Amino acid sequence: MPRPRILTTRRWPEAVERQLADRFDLVLNEGDRPMSAEDFRAAFREFDAICPTVTDKLGPEAFAVDNPRTKILGNFGVGFSHIDVDSAKRHGMIVTNTPDVLSECTADIAMTLMLMVARRAGEGERELRGGEWSGWRPTHMIGTKVSGAALGIIGFGRIGQAMAHRAHFGFGMKILVQNRSAVAPAVLAHYGATQVASVEDLLPQCDFVSLHCPGGAANRHLINAGRLGLMRPDAFLINTARGEVVDEAALAAALAARRIGGAGLDVFEREPAITPALLDCPSLVMLPHLGSATRTTREAMGFRVMDNVVAFFDGQPPADRVA
Ligand code: DGY
Repeated sequence: MPRPRILTTRRWPEAVERQLADRFDLVLNEGDRPMSAEDFRAAFREFDAICPTVTDKLGPEAFAVDNPRTKILGNFGVGFSHIDVDSAKRHGMIVTNTPDVLSECTADIAMTLMLMVARRAGEGERELRGGEWSGWRPTHMIGTKVSGAALGIIGFGRIGQAMAHRAHFGFGMKILVQNRSAVAPAVLAHYGATQVASVEDLLPQCDFVSLHCPGGAANRHLINAGRLGLMRPDAFLINTARGEVVDEAALAAALAARRIGGAGLDVFEREPAITPALLDCPSLVMLPHLGSATRTTREAMGFRVMDNVVAFFDGQPPADRVA
């Protein structure tokens, strides 16, 4: 029997590519460049499985193909708002993701951003490397204390809870939570957290707000000019979720007018493009979508995709089916 023909749309950790090649008729995207809608239409005719990432924009035009051969999209990543799941379903394709394995590293990056922006680490490093540091003084580069402050977490799934764990147990922070559904009282009690009814209730009570909700149309511009206006004037916004959750133009305006204390972003609305006004904001720390970027986690993500795809071709239900 011929082995299923599968395509990985970007280069993956070598250990995973090796195992995939042992099991499947694997085609790599040797150039490691994002694929276009046209590339996808061709790939849907040729491959039994396609394994995309967040850099693949799988909108309706990518799915405009008759009788595709592809049966499964094994996404490398937990977020899948870049995939038009309705089109995938219409073609009978199933979609899987990679939950759990990246929660800790993504929460670590959210903590990194929170500490960097509050303690002005980016600004400090720029000053030092620019040869502008004139030495210690009591009034130099005064930041905001993180320990003991109030942290609002929007989206209390696995990554939100990993963030609460770090903030509560490591930094003694008071945790407030906004989540679509009610969080079990025992879970809230574990983190000393309080759930509030709405984003509007949460924002005015927090020194830091960290976003851990899904992306996609439902949460597009969840943080907009109006909601930024509800934040405390010295509060900080952290986004490691998806770029579309924050209206970048509104954020740049709020930062420029000092309506909030600062922000830390690991994700952007039009990656890898950055809204130019953001580059002029000193109270903003930006990272190039590094949330899951550790060797351990990227390998675990790859093997998680592999488990899903192997299960599918073995006739078993993939563990991480999302559509
Ligand atoms: C995720 O898994 O959602 C990461 O952001 C990479 O897509």
